Amino acid sequence: MESTRGRLLDILAKHNEEYVSGQMLSDQLNISRPAVWKHMKELEKDGYVMEAVPRKGYRILSFPNKVSQNTIQWGLKTKWLGQHMLHKTSTPSTQMLAHNQAQNGSAHGTVIIADEQTNGRGRLHRQWYSHKGEGIWMSMILRPTMEPHLSPQLTLLAATVLAETLKRHCGVKPQIKWPNDILIHDKKVAGILTELQAEQDQVNYIVLGIGMNVNQPNTAFIGELQRKATSLHLQTNQTWDISALVQDILQTFEKRYDEYMENGFAHVKLRWEAFGYKLGEIVPIHTHQNKWYGRLMGIEEDGALYVLDENGQGHILYSAEIEW
Ligand code: BTN
Repeated sequence: MESTRGRLLDILAKHNEEYVSGQMLSDQLNISRPAVWKHMKELEKDGYVMEAVPRKGYRILSFPNKVSQNTIQWGLKTKWLGQHMLHKTSTPSTQMLAHNQAQNGSAHGTVIIADEQTNGRGRLHRQWYSHKGEGIWMSMILRPTMEPHLSPQLTLLAATVLAETLKRHCGVKPQIKWPNDILIHDKKVAGILTELQAEQDQVNYIVLGIGMNVNQPNTAFIGELQRKATSLHLQTNQTWDISALVQDILQTFEKRYDEYMENGFAHVKLRWEAFGYKLGEIVPIHTHQNKWYGRLMGIEEDGALYVLDENGQGHILYSAEIEW
């Protein structure tokens, strides 16, 4: 952020709940103390709630309900995830932007987030609707020390993080449809797109994209989407603060990622299976133009789906679509 106002917000946001003295702000911004005070009044007009205490200074009590780098980083309790962040009001796709950033050397944990995507992409080259201010459209750059064939584990980890966060934060009952669709009451609320840049035996970087429908009204989903998609707003009848939700996702993701790097996949697998959609049930499965029925049993170490066919024979599936 370049403007004085932007830099002022940056300083206050980085100090979280601590006071910053008027003198320090005036020194750092190279403006007079009355000018600092004038900026504070302008911020209040825009919906920021500020506190000014004599001999202590200023601090932010709350941000307006809109997303910016500051609203997310203010109070963010992570060590590495989201400490570098790029926020765009509009961009074709945060996924594309993240690839550019990663190729230019952006750090592990960099987060790219947008209010709107004009060319959002889903799995299997599908379009991903990402209207302004209605959801979370973000991509993170990860630089794990891992062999490429293990990278699907990170996608499964991300799915458990989303399910876990939604359950705790919003009180809903999410389920994960293999490999990584998050459903509530059988409708999709979030999806994950993982893209990888790798050498033969080492990942260079991963761009992990998360799309989550948050505040869409009923009218947002038309045609086929009406039956298949939902938003948190529609499921809970509440309007959610997107920045607070993003913070929670980043904090939970960092915690689970660090645990996974330390202890391996076993716990992720258990957590994934606890949220698994129709696990133990017989469902229609599509593989290579065929439709058949199988009992969903769980996931393998490499992220594949384990299914029993009607003769009780086991199948390990790497690419399949569960009908729902
Ligand atoms: C899916 O098909 O379920 C995955 C959807 C992933 C969408 C997210 S939104 C942020 C990032 N940018 C994109 O263009 N796609 C991903």
